[in-house]
Amino acid sequence: MSSLFASSANDSEGTKPRSADNGSAVVQTADVVRDARNPISRHTVADVARYYNEWTPDYINGFGEVFQGARPESTEELLEYIKSAARLEDGLTVLDAGCGVCGPATWFAEHGDLTIEALTISEVQVAEAQQRINRRGLQNRVTVRQGDFQQLAQIYPPAHFDRILFLESLCHAEDYRTVLQQAKQLLKPGGCVYIKDFYAIDNRSRPEVLEMQAQDLRDLNQVYCLMMPDIPRMVDTISALGFDIVYLRQPLYEYSSKPWEKFMEESKLYWLPKLDPNLDINTIEFLISTKTHEVFLNR
Ligand SMILES: C[S@@+](CC[C@H](N)C(=O)[O-])C[C@H]1O[C@@H](n2cnc3c(N)ncnc32)[C@H](O)[C@@H]1O
Repeated sequence: MSSLFASSANDSEGTKPRSADNGSAVVQTADVVRDARNPISRHTVADVARYYNEWTPDYINGFGEVFQGARPESTEELLEYIKSAARLEDGLTVLDAGCGVCGPATWFAEHGDLTIEALTISEVQVAEAQQRINRRGLQNRVTVRQGDFQQLAQIYPPAHFDRILFLESLCHAEDYRTVLQQAKQLLKPGGCVYIKDFYAIDNRSRPEVLEMQAQDLRDLNQVYCLMMPDIPRMVDTISALGFDIVYLRQPLYEYSSKPWEKFMEESKLYWLPKLDPNLDINTIEFLISTKTHEVFLNR
């Protein structure tokens, strides 16, 4: 991400840099970075549904069938990478939570022996996804439905999935903790959640950029109807829920800004940061699993 980004939207909220929060996790720009441990009220699930119902045609024109901004140029390479990173081995039952138009789900089903449930908040996306599933003859392998991933436990049975994927979708949630807690209930013992998403860079060591980062993040949140967390409190949330972290890392592919640039040109939904965007946000992938070991107390 670089040259194309410059400033766009305007917002009057102030920045409140703080140095510490309860002595554990850190708030750098309190109004624009979410604390993953707590719900936000900045946007609602209904706002996100409206956003995707309105903009899905532009997403298709800009991104194709896979709506991800953090990616290599080739969609094939991206999906190959995610298949391996999320360990989508043959025979598994998978939930794609925030599935877009089932670009990823249909590709995974065509490239492996997988049974996939796909969930999106947008009914426009469900209709688009169903067409793609039918066209590819995948009705027995991919099932798409409209619903809120904050209510996973009401939609799917417990201990049902081997893998649950959040591919640039969790950043839209009102409440990370609720989503991940319910995802955990849906996993079989030893199952994994794979989360690939954006995080606000921790700029405590660069106080001179905090104000500008806050402006960039405020624009970003507003344009794309999301809010990113920082990594420390994301890790805290995951750990508090009892997940084991198998890994957390920056994706290993070579990033290309071209697909996101094309999307912005198509949609006119510009995010044009003032700061080097690499100082604003980064992409992290988490693979987290349910604990399978017993804890024995040594008496
Ligand atoms: C950036 S798109 C990514 C789509 C898809 N993962 C892909 O790679 O093409 C974000 C997706 O998250 C979904 N989403 C956001 N909030 C949701 C919620 N509360 N429940 C279900 N899906 C949600 C949107 O409908 C959209 O499909």
